[in-house]
Amino acid sequence: MANLATITLAAGKGTRMKSSLPKVLHQVAGKSMVQHVVDTASRLDPLHNLVIVGYKAEQVKVETVGKIEFVKQEQQLGTGHAVMQAKDKLTDFSGVVLVLYGDTPLLTSETLQQLVKKHKVEEAAATILTTKVDDPTGYGRIIRDQSGYVVKIVEERDTTAQEAKVNEINTGICCFESELLWDALSKLDTDNAQGEYYLTDIPEILVNQGDSVAALSTSDTQQTIGVNNRKHLAEAEQALRQKICNSHLENGVTIIDPANTYIDSEVRIGQDSIIYPFTFLEGKTLVGSEVIIGPQTRVSDSTIGNQVKINSSTIIDSQVGDRSKVGPYAYLRPGTKLASEVKVGDFVEIKKSEIDKGTKIPHLSYIGDALIGQNTNIGAGTITANYDGQQKHRTVIGDDVFVGSDSTLVAPLRIGDKAITGAGSVVTKDVEADDLVLGVPAEPKD
Ligand code: UD1
Ligand code: CA
Repeated sequence: MANLATITLAAGKGTRMKSSLPKVLHQVAGKSMVQHVVDTASRLDPLHNLVIVGYKAEQVKVETVGKIEFVKQEQQLGTGHAVMQAKDKLTDFSGVVLVLYGDTPLLTSETLQQLVKKHKVEEAAATILTTKVDDPTGYGRIIRDQSGYVVKIVEERDTTAQEAKVNEINTGICCFESELLWDALSKLDTDNAQGEYYLTDIPEILVNQGDSVAALSTSDTQQTIGVNNRKHLAEAEQALRQKICNSHLENGVTIIDPANTYIDSEVRIGQDSIIYPFTFLEGKTLVGSEVIIGPQTRVSDSTIGNQVKINSSTIIDSQVGDRSKVGPYAYLRPGTKLASEVKVGDFVEIKKSEIDKGTKIPHLSYIGDALIGQNTNIGAGTITANYDGQQKHRTVIGDDVFVGSDSTLVAPLRIGDKAITGAGSVVTKDVEADDLVLGVPAEPKD
């Protein structure tokens, strides 16, 4: 959107969170609150997308990504003071300045678009996003005159008894005409209960000088939740998860029990997949179509192909190919790549290993730093002894190999195609293709 600048306020400590982590870095549905807001702002394609940082600024900068510019607020003297810090970056800018708070993670870009549209249609100096709530505790109240025009916002601590009863609240989201904003900001004082420069005093300043202040009231109160404490955080989490599940349901995914399914905001799931309860799909996980996941499964930052079945398992930073089966009780650690039609059964742990098409590791194994070919069978209880106490070593196993139950494969080790190891062997030397080795340590047999 041309002539639009967004400013996201993210400099506060968030005292009420009782946390060493800056408030805006707390996560909701697997993404920090400020990242949610910045991503929403980006969807409007603003000319400038500014983020005001202050408390633990370096950490917030490192952990917040996108086409954004950071501005430092050295001291947190209030939301009005925070917006003032952006002025230098916007000296050449003239248009609409949209201010967002970094603690409103559920906000959507559609609502912001409606707000900016209303602002333009009404030719207002400022337009505030408001909503009516049952319990306005903690929020600034919207005070209107008898004709219904907004005259000011009063912060909770500065309300009279009558003002405190008003249930139309300031969501914190507001857009301004840039020149009028900079001028009004220079008129702010700290004459209030918190001794801060309140952004919320701007509407009154504008109205008093004869400029018009408009308001867009949204009925979606959940969308404007401002997270100040852990209780709000839990509410926001629940609300966003519900919304995420709903969008997957709309896209043709079956979720048996949405209330007990935890899907992060960036996860993608193909059509006709079924998610059973107590499943966590986290980070940038991609799930194909006709996949069955769960119950009790965690998949984090992983790519799952089509028609895969995963039951009661944990998969982290891994890839699972089409029609593979995982679990129950399997643990795929970072760097695991299963090709298609692989079977990883119960109590199997795999780390940093590639398993090719059609290979089976059905029971009770540890496979680490290994490369395993196609259609190989790894017998129950097989272990790659990949660590000599100092270094990790690789195990390379070919195609159509039969590794007998309870084999210990002492790495570094290579086992050729179609080789066989006897049950209980401790294999310490490379095995040629087609060979059979047996015993402790394993020796070739004809
Ligand atoms: C603010 C509004 C209140 C509104 C509510 C909506 C003010 C004075 N009050 O109150 O009317 O109903 O949000 O959720 O604006 N921040 C800075 N620098 C500062 C102070 C705050 O960057 O000096 C940032 C915080 O990091 C936070 C945001 O501004 O992301 C809002 O601050 P917060 O302290 O949460 O304001 P509220 O008390 O919730
Ligand atoms: Ca807040």
